[in-house]
Amino acid sequence: MKTIIRVIQKDTMEAVTAEAAEIWKRGGLVAFPTETVYGLGGNGLDPEASKKIYAAKGRPSDNPLILHIADRKQAEGLASDISEAGRLLMERFWPGPLTLIFPKAKNIPLETTGGLETVAIRMPSHPVAQALLRKAGLPIAAPSANLSGRPSPTLARDVKEDMDGRIDMIVDGGEVGIGVESTIVDVTGEVPTILRPGYITEEMLRDVVGRVAVDPAVAGSVGAEVKPKAPGMKYRHYAPKAPMVLVEGSCDAVAEALNRVLEKAERDGKKIGILASEENAGQYRGGVVKVVGSHKNLDCVAHNLYRVLREFDREEVEMIYSECFGGQAFGQAVMNRLKKAAGQHVIRAEEAAENEM
Ligand code: TXA
Ligand code: MG
Repeated sequence: MKTIIRVIQKDTMEAVTAEAAEIWKRGGLVAFPTETVYGLGGNGLDPEASKKIYAAKGRPSDNPLILHIADRKQAEGLASDISEAGRLLMERFWPGPLTLIFPKAKNIPLETTGGLETVAIRMPSHPVAQALLRKAGLPIAAPSANLSGRPSPTLARDVKEDMDGRIDMIVDGGEVGIGVESTIVDVTGEVPTILRPGYITEEMLRDVVGRVAVDPAVAGSVGAEVKPKAPGMKYRHYAPKAPMVLVEGSCDAVAEALNRVLEKAERDGKKIGILASEENAGQYRGGVVKVVGSHKNLDCVAHNLYRVLREFDREEVEMIYSECFGGQAFGQAVMNRLKKAAGQHVIRAEEAAENEM
């Protein structure tokens, strides 16, 4: 299949949205920008389109897709019940980077929901996503537009890297804003529950609905016996090709430990990537050092994270060491993605120096 790539700007908006909507209507796949990451969209009411999405991504078909809508009202036809908490959150955060889980309406195929009786819905705020969804007039099922297991795409070029020849079209709307996937909240139960942290934080949700729970899988410390409620959270995800380790400790301790690792790697002829902060980058002697942002500005870290992970892939480093970023509020989402990229592998600075490569 030849993948068409269209750059979208003011003067091409009308033609490109019409072309994309046409592809969706006949069951094809179009990747497009949202405010979080690029999505890989198909008609969410067409089971064949959903099957094509799983095939294009190489994604297990028990991992459900998010339906993207242009208008709050559309949710009423897709959810069989909208709880009070769900309604409040839709009113406050849509359009925006929040996905809500509802009981599904009958017309949504199980192929789209990965066999679940619930459905994930989100109304993106990105103007290009909105224009495309409005033109299509369909709920568009869209996972992130990466091959399964790879970092989510934040640029059209990332989508092309993974999806060229596998989908009908890529709409290039430039670099996305937030850079990590939407917050997912299950509003089917008594207490709204965060299944995946994102830009909309626990605190922001609590301000609207009072009590909020967090699925234990979010912290990333659960064993195999705890099943995450968002099936996608159980897979190694967002991951670069090289193994990655997060290193905890003060800036100086991390720099000192990693410099010892770098010295050893140089003797062994190994190429090491360092995912560094602005504050610390100057301290590393050797290795492929990439600055992802400042410890004081996690928005910026989130914005750059997946792009930097993909750059390490292109440079073919054999191992990546990363400083820890995160903590409170949006920092939870940043740390969650970092830990996933590292397969939950976190060590103390002192251990890093002894770490076998
Ligand atoms: O920001 C985003 O959410 C991006 C953009 C493209 O909108 N999309 C995205 O989709 O991240 P995806 O497929 O990569 O992640 C969707 C997550 C998965 O972890 C999946 O298991 C979960 O949402 N999910 C979808 N439907 C669900 C449901 N009914 N119940 C629980 N989790 C669900
Ligand atoms: Mg994804």
